[in-house]
Amino acid sequence: MKIECDIKPNRLFAPQLVGLVSSMGKNGKPNVATLAWITSVSAEPPLISIALGRSRYTHECISHSREFVVNLPTMELLKEVQLAGSISGREGDKFEKCGLTPSASIALKTPCVKECAAHIECKVVDTKEAGDHTLFIGKVVATTCELEAVRDGVLDVSRIKPVLHLGGTFFTTAGEVVDARNI
Ligand SMILES: Cc1cc2nc3c(=O)[nH]c(=O)nc-3n(C[C@H](O)[C@H](O)[C@H](O)COP(=O)(O)O)c2cc1C
Repeated sequence: MKIECDIKPNRLFAPQLVGLVSSMGKNGKPNVATLAWITSVSAEPPLISIALGRSRYTHECISHSREFVVNLPTMELLKEVQLAGSISGREGDKFEKCGLTPSASIALKTPCVKECAAHIECKVVDTKEAGDHTLFIGKVVATTCELEAVRDGVLDVSRIKPVLHLGGTFFTTAGEVVDARNI
């Protein structure tokens, strides 16, 4: 039996892969924030959309610099993920507060988060207002990842434990890769 449920609709659309999104402030200093509303929106050209609340400092940074990096944290970084998603870079150096290290990107001025397993560098090609968030659509200009993060052209979640957000302070991860050709 199905019941009408008292849950925010976005929480049924879960778990969602969490990114630590790095950006560059007008002051030339980098910022990092936790985002779960991230999705691919085109394969060719490769485009990624991130949804940012208008109050976020990251919103201000990306509106100015027109670039961002989606960094993929693993479960070892869960504390840092929670912290980067709870405080604002407006109040000081969030990389330092979270104990994260900015490291040079390949194609952007915005640095990557060194501790993450993969990095997707994006240049903003479009924006769209959507309710209380803005969608920033970024063209992927470079991707880097740990050697062991990928097998058969997909993320090897048996070795790399991604952070998946359920809502609020609840998270999960993945551990099994299933090839549908074998079932
Ligand atoms: C797990 C998690 C996921 C989040 N996802 C988003 C998101 O997709 N979009 C968003 O605008 N804020 C999201 N937030 C909230 C921001 O990370 C938070 O407001 C942060 O303080 C913004 O930092 P900033 O002001 O330095 O940009 C998320 C927070 C957490 C903990």
